[in-house]
Amino acid sequence: MPFAAPRRRRCAVVGLGARAQLFTEALAGPYADRIELAGFCDVNAHRMAVHNGWIASAHPGRPPIPTYSADDFEEMLRRERVDLVVVCTVDHLHDHYIVRALEAGCDVVTEKPMTTTAERARRILDAQRRTGREVRVAFNYRYNPVHSAVRELLADGEIGEVGSVHFEWLLDLRHGADYFRRWHRDKANSGGLMVHKATHHFDLVNWWLGAQPETVYAQGGLFFYGDEAGDRRGLARDYTRAHGSTAADGDPFAIRLADSSVLSALYLDAEAEDGYHRDQNVFGPGVSIEDDMAVLVRYSSGATLTYHLTAYAPWEGYRIAFNGSEGRVELLVEESTWTRPDVRTDGASAVLHGAAVGDEAGRTQLLVRRSWEEPREVKVPTGEGGHGGGDVRMLADLFGERAPGDADSLGRAADAGDGARSLATGLAANRSFVTGLPVDARRLMDSKGDS
Ligand SMILES: NC(=O)c1ccc[n+]([C@@H]2O[C@H](COP(=O)([O-])OP(=O)(O)OC[C@H]3O[C@@H](n4cnc5c(N)ncnc54)[C@H](O)[C@@H]3O)[C@@H](O)[C@H]2O)c1
Repeated sequence: MPFAAPRRRRCAVVGLGARAQLFTEALAGPYADRIELAGFCDVNAHRMAVHNGWIASAHPGRPPIPTYSADDFEEMLRRERVDLVVVCTVDHLHDHYIVRALEAGCDVVTEKPMTTTAERARRILDAQRRTGREVRVAFNYRYNPVHSAVRELLADGEIGEVGSVHFEWLLDLRHGADYFRRWHRDKANSGGLMVHKATHHFDLVNWWLGAQPETVYAQGGLFFYGDEAGDRRGLARDYTRAHGSTAADGDPFAIRLADSSVLSALYLDAEAEDGYHRDQNVFGPGVSIEDDMAVLVRYSSGATLTYHLTAYAPWEGYRIAFNGSEGRVELLVEESTWTRPDVRTDGASAVLHGAAVGDEAGRTQLLVRRSWEEPREVKVPTGEGGHGGGDVRMLADLFGERAPGDADSLGRAADAGDGARSLATGLAANRSFVTGLPVDARRLMDSKGDS
């Protein structure tokens, strides 16, 4: 008698917005033979229907994925016999779904940031320990080949012991501005860019150094966006959201949802259900996050980090330098060299990013400068797909089959502990913004007070 085929794991996705498309496409397509897409859950039925429509066009004849309202999350887990939950909701709700999924006996893949406060991170860590289930944090930047190459260089001791890291990340006027048009502009939703965005960067530094943040001092503020700065520099226009507003005509900071079939489908046509406007005025009131942040960190290894995040730069990308006892590693990634004022939003993706094509496209350079030696450039093949090829590699690691002997030698798979350690730096920075004092990041996750 032939052996029965192994049962496919059954996976539900909660939060069917823009980012979820990466997962729904992968699970309905290349990973469908290993994992069965078994349920969708969201407060917005329209967005779930859009995802089902995309799946139907890509896989004609495939039955639609059963959809559930947010109130019926547990019911979905039971009825659809779910083993694995992918969490793609707005950031401050991640813990709500992660903890309930773990308690129902499921494993979890969560989008970054793992959550937005220390209290919520503790709930996740407690639930993970209590249930023994697995939590993977989707830190796709670890899988970008150039970031993996940096990890290899440092682990191989190319520059000896790392004494310090200098790290500057620039978000351009298109991508940076996007955080001020959406739910991210409210710190209660996203934890601000120190949590929402820099969680990637602080995770990379933890991973590259194999160390944990201990002391964090930071200064940050709203320098460019928001009503006060917009009025002061004459950049503000008189509208609340761009759609249907003549005051937004010609505003390079306005996003036109109706110009994009994807943005229209996901947001404009879904507004009737939840009143969410994805095209708010970046110079309007109600922005409670920072756009310019400077952070100084000391790590358990003794190394220090100087970090800067700017959300209103003319180009998009980052520069990193590692100063070691035997030399220096320098990485430059120019995702775009400049930002067009008249960019249209009619691409196939709902994600705005520094352009990687056309006359805005930049370059990547990884240099090893060993002491007493000429600089050597390390050529790394550019990855295909989102986030420098990180997305496709991460999906393969999350959902694919690891060949025997193909260990994760670079330790790219991130768990709840990694999610919490990356949050520790951002949350400590947020606290330091307010108090003006250094913060002990080690005690942040232990303390009872929320942050
Ligand atoms: N790793 C990356 O590079 C990357 C890139 C983009 C987004 N993300 C992350 O993905 C997540 C989603 O971001 P997005 O850009 O898709 O946002 P989005 O606004 O497009 O989608 C969020 C979804 O959450 C849903 N939602 C809101 N309240 C809910 C509730 N109570 N229960 C269930 N669903 C609810 C919304 O209806 C929406 O469909 C965020 O955590 C974000 O940080 C990660």
